[in-house]
Amino acid sequence: MNPTSSTPPVLNGIGLSKSFGSTRALDAVDIAVGAGESVAVMGPSGSGKSTLLHCLANIERPDSGQVLLDGERIDQLREPDRSELRRTRFGFVFQFGQLLPELPAVENVAIPLMLGGMTRREAERNARQWFAPLGLEGKEDSRPGQLSGGQAQRVAIARARGAGAGPARAAASRDPAARHAGGAAGVGGAPRRGGGGGPPRAPPPPPARPPPPPRRGRR
Ligand SMILES: Nc1ncnc2c1ncn2[C@@H]1O[C@H](COP(=O)(O)OP(=O)(O)OP(=O)(O)O)[C@@H](O)[C@H]1O
Ligand SMILES: [Mg+2]
Repeated sequence: MNPTSSTPPVLNGIGLSKSFGSTRALDAVDIAVGAGESVAVMGPSGSGKSTLLHCLANIERPDSGQVLLDGERIDQLREPDRSELRRTRFGFVFQFGQLLPELPAVENVAIPLMLGGMTRREAERNARQWFAPLGLEGKEDSRPGQLSGGQAQRVAIARARGAGAGPARAAASRDPAARHAGGAAGVGGAPRRGGGGGPPRAPPPPPARPPPPPRRGRR
């Protein structure tokens, strides 16, 4: 991907490569994401989309290349710092297994807030605010096994958006429910502008200016 944005990137991947054994998942990928910008990473199954998002968000370390958040390298941080960044600056909607099955939906959303220092009461109050705007009213106390697939993904979106207080968010999902809810980087769907269609956006408010059109990845 070639950076085309004129705004300084919030999140920047430079020459990212990653292999799993003999499988080369990423081969010198460049990507730049500006503030308020929505980017769709598209490509065939197995082409490295998730690996790219994982490297950008510090879930995995690239074998080579750099990841910069607000202009600072984050790919070389020590594990506690990486862990804090993941908790505070990135929101994730994974493809599979994203909710803790034994906890009610509202607690799933509240967990990262509590890890960030909120009291349980405060975190649950905050978490509940995300349910109605995502069409989940009345599902707050349901366990993941009592939710439909789309509802479960939207709970994960609520968790991702509630926890990721910073401007850099990554959301990866094939499910239309996730794409409709406006994750910052949707995978597997048609290119779309962020913030359009879908259910009303939950707080925090959307960016003041419309984001530029999404870019196509080369893989
Ligand atoms: N932990 C791993 N161990 C070994 N191989 C892996 C691992 N993770 C990913 N791969 C391989 O790396 C390649 C890229 O995988 P990745 O999950 O990034 O693809 P993707 O584009 O997200 O695919 P999909 O659209 O199916 O989700 C695939 O060939 C996959 O089999
Ligand atoms: Mg994937």
